[in-house]
Amino acid sequence: MALRQIRQIGEDILRKKAKPVRAFDNSLHSLLEDMWDTLRAFDGLGLAAPQVGILRQIIIVEFEEEKYELINPKLIESSGAEEKIEACLSIPLKQGTVERPTYLKLEALDRHGDAFELEIEDNILTTALCHELDHLEGILFLDKATNIHDRPEEEHSGK
Ligand code: CO
Repeated sequence: MALRQIRQIGEDILRKKAKPVRAFDNSLHSLLEDMWDTLRAFDGLGLAAPQVGILRQIIIVEFEEEKYELINPKLIESSGAEEKIEACLSIPLKQGTVERPTYLKLEALDRHGDAFELEIEDNILTTALCHELDHLEGILFLDKATNIHDRPEEEHSGK
């Protein structure tokens, strides 16, 4: 188990656009394993590679039994809108309300470079996936949030 350091708000890398992954090799696979270890260690819902200092288009999301690993993800279609409270492992002290779609259709590559499509209608997963997709564009939830306030002390984990 290897934990990666989570980059915090104020660090430049969180504001940069991630580049596509080109090599689906052992170094990608060990990065993914480290990202899963890090996400679970901090009890988060999702993590994007720039949050661990890697400027590549990689996101992971896990909620209950659902687990997603998306390389070079692209949003194909979205619809609906619902407000949810969001947090972020890179912004541990804040939370805020963000409106996100309730339906998503994505295409992405798996860790071996094979393409797949994904349709999601669970509102927690659509929120988490949109939040992580934003990280790949250098966008943080605070950019979109209303009602931003300090998180309760016992909840300093998040996405
Ligand atoms: Co985040």
